[in-house]
Amino acid sequence: MKFLIINGPNLNMLGIREPDLYGTLTYDGLVEYVAAEARRLGVEAEFYQSNHEGDLVTAIQQAYGRMDGIVINAGAYTHTSIAILDALKAVSVPAAEVHISDVAKREDFRQVSYLGMACCCKFAGEGKQGYVHAMEKLIEIIRNKNT
Ligand code: DQA
Repeated sequence: MKFLIINGPNLNMLGIREPDLYGTLTYDGLVEYVAAEARRLGVEAEFYQSNHEGDLVTAIQQAYGRMDGIVINAGAYTHTSIAILDALKAVSVPAAEVHISDVAKREDFRQVSYLGMACCCKFAGEGKQGYVHAMEKLIEIIRNKNT
């Protein structure tokens, strides 16, 4: 099984940006941790980060026929991007939504998730663990679909 782990705008600033909300782990540290967990789970993980909406759309499109699952933390685009929602729908690769912070307890504008409409599940407020739980859920869903 092969998963694409997508991180959107400002997630490259992890470790620097609002550490009380997002913690002190850097983006490279996150990748290292999630890659090790992917190996433990027996899946292949490819990582992609961009601050640009169109590049995130392209990365999702390129997952078509190549990836078994997508783990996506689209950052602020979560709350605004119909283009990312449409891309996820277009490829229909099973996708899981992740947020490091607990968006449910934050501002009203973070309560909307467009891309969530194309995701099987959502993990928020679990920090780096959310990415691992997302991979575990995708593995379960894909295995159930294939039996
Ligand atoms: C975030 C939550 C978003 O609302 C915010 O815009 C981010 C990060 C998170 O991981 O908690 O950039 O996706």
